[in-house]
Amino acid sequence: MSNLFTDPPRLPLIAPSILSADFTRMGDDCRAVLEGGADLLHLDVMDGHFVPNLTMGPDMCLWLRRAMPNAFLDVHLMVTDPGRFVEPFIKAGANHLTFHLEVLDDRGLRDLATKVRSLGATAGLAINPPTSVDRAMGLIHAFDLFLVMSVNPGFSGQKFISEVLTKVRALKPRLSRAQRLEMDGGLGLDNAATVRQAGCDVMVAASAIFGVASAARSGVIRQLRTDA
Ligand code: DX5
Ligand code: ZN
Repeated sequence: MSNLFTDPPRLPLIAPSILSADFTRMGDDCRAVLEGGADLLHLDVMDGHFVPNLTMGPDMCLWLRRAMPNAFLDVHLMVTDPGRFVEPFIKAGANHLTFHLEVLDDRGLRDLATKVRSLGATAGLAINPPTSVDRAMGLIHAFDLFLVMSVNPGFSGQKFISEVLTKVRALKPRLSRAQRLEMDGGLGLDNAATVRQAGCDVMVAASAIFGVASAARSGVIRQLRTDA
C-alpha cells in the first residue's frame, strides 16, 4: 500500500490535528494550514468510552474529503471498538487509520490492520503513555505506522510527557524506511527538536498550530519541521 506515509516526499511530516481548529470555519482553517506547509490533516475520533470525550465521526471525514479532494486524511481512532468504524471512515475518504493496542488482542490487531489495508488505506498502531512498547514490538510487520502518544488521549492542550521518548528510541531501529513513527500530544516549538531527534517523523500538533493567530500558523509549521 503506497501513500504519503509509506512513500513520503520529505520527512518529517507535519500533521495539524483539526481538534483545535475553529469548527465553524473548518474548511477554511484546514485549507489554510495545508497551503501554509502542513503535509496532512489529523482527525481525532473519540467515543466517550475509550477516552472521556466525544469529538467527530465519519461525516467530518466525508466533508473534508469533498472540500479537499487531494488532502491526506490521517484518522486516529480513540475508540473501544475500532472494527465498527473502519469501513465507514475509509468510505468517507480516510487515507490512513490508526487504532489503539489497548483495545484488542494481538490477533484482533493483526486482523484489523489486514482489513484496513485490504480496503485501500494504511494502518497504524497507537500506544498510550502508560502502555509498554513490548507488545508493539511483536507487531512490527503488521503496521505502516506506530503512534507513540505523548499525552493521555482525550483533550488537546495537555502537557507533553517526555518519558515516552524511551519508547520512540526503542521502536525506531526496528522500523523500515516505509514505516512511520508518529508522536501526538503536547508537541510544540519547545520540544519539537527533541522529538525529531528521538526518531519521530510524523509530528501531530493541535493547539501549537491552531492555537495561534492564522497568520502565524505557517511559521509554526516550518519551525516544527526544522530548527532552521
Ligand atoms: C489527544 C489527541 C491529540 C490532540 C493533540 O487526545 O489524540 O491529537 O489533539 O493536541 P495538542 O497538540 O494540543 O496536545
Ligand atoms: Zn491524535
